Amino acid sequence: MTTAFFAPSQALRGEVVAPPDKSISHRAALLGAMSTGTVRISNFLRAADTLSTLDALRAIGARVDDHGDGTVVVRGCGLRAAREPGGPIDVGNAGTLMRLLPGWLASQEGRIFVLDGDSSIRRRPVDRIAEPLRRMGADIRTTDGRFPPFVVYGTPLAAITYELPVASAQVKSCVLLAGLGAEGTTRVVEPVPSRDHTERMLAGAGVAVVRDGRTVSVPSSAELAAQDVVVPGDLSSAAFMIAAAVLVPGSRIVVRDVGVNWTRTGFLRILARMGAVVGGELEEPSAAVAASEPICDLEVGAGPLTGTVVEADEVPLAIDELPLVALLGCLAEGETVVRGAQELRVKESDRIAGVVDGLRDLGATIEATDDGFVVTGTGGRGLRGGSIDARGDHRMAMLGAIAGLASADGVRVAGMDAAAVSYPSFAEDLARLA
Ligand code: S3P
Repeated sequence: MTTAFFAPSQALRGEVVAPPDKSISHRAALLGAMSTGTVRISNFLRAADTLSTLDALRAIGARVDDHGDGTVVVRGCGLRAAREPGGPIDVGNAGTLMRLLPGWLASQEGRIFVLDGDSSIRRRPVDRIAEPLRRMGADIRTTDGRFPPFVVYGTPLAAITYELPVASAQVKSCVLLAGLGAEGTTRVVEPVPSRDHTERMLAGAGVAVVRDGRTVSVPSSAELAAQDVVVPGDLSSAAFMIAAAVLVPGSRIVVRDVGVNWTRTGFLRILARMGAVVGGELEEPSAAVAASEPICDLEVGAGPLTGTVVEADEVPLAIDELPLVALLGCLAEGETVVRGAQELRVKESDRIAGVVDGLRDLGATIEATDDGFVVTGTGGRGLRGGSIDARGDHRMAMLGAIAGLASADGVRVAGMDAAAVSYPSFAEDLARLA
């Protein structure tokens, strides 16, 4: 475990290219493996999580050539021809891989797959995917009824209509992928919209994906014809640079090539409400399922912030950025409240407890609630600083770093190496701007 110190920063200046999107990199490789034919992925994220996906796909029979420069070429196995691996599939720290892959594997008749991962993965619930898959006829074993290791005995599946009890793109994607190999048309009803990368990529692969209000449906499919993919920059990673520029007085930066799919840009809308100015051509919501991902450059400057309220319907659109909303709230005028975000408790760490304890130790006035937090801002003055433990969570490590830049005494982050899970060049990119 490495410890790093982030000193109070001068104004941030310059440009940085957003690192490749993690969600889209996982999906591009997975859909490539499910297809017949060869898919070329450019700007693939080479980080711990997404390399776990490449290894998993190799283990079940896909031919994966990682050129090491962001180009990955996947020759698929075909929708019904995943191979039974010689041992457990190791998903590492990757929750998205753990939740999406079983959707495909559940219909691989007569083959057995065991999915396991690191100590964080073993604490993250998988009953949320076991339940709908079982309703489709899948034969699944979990540990203590809720946790990995997760065992899939492949068997024929039948389509269902599934009302998601929580808005989760991972669960939605799992059911849709299972639906491709099931008999009939599978429907998923979302309580509120969540990221739609799976739907877009399936549409691009020739699947007749239909969205009707809160319902997304996919028909049973013979085969997929995944297209070549250029992965956009990851807004969830760029958000750390954006927050740094908003918080450190006098800053002005440009973040290039950021994916601005409407279902991912909730953080930018929250920032706008708080008074920050972020310039760029953002996507507007649309009734039709797009088959591509919009990209733009974002221009960000520092400014005075006011507190805001984030309600449940906005939570999935900014889920991974909510720790940064807490930090921004610390320096805003008035109160910032996040509600309906109990999902934060089952991320790579309990991000309600981690954010509240961590920021309070740095001088913040912040209270945890069951489903979020309430922050009382300083009206512009930075936090005192001190030490924060990343708790093995990449986004907590990067949160601590950004808090340091906007603090009086700097912040020491224990476990900074966790950032490599999603953003291996985080420290370099930050140093370039700071
Ligand atoms: C993800 C969905 C979100 C998000 C995670 C990535 C995805 O999780 O927090 O980092 O790629 O689908 P949930 O679907 O569990 O909310």
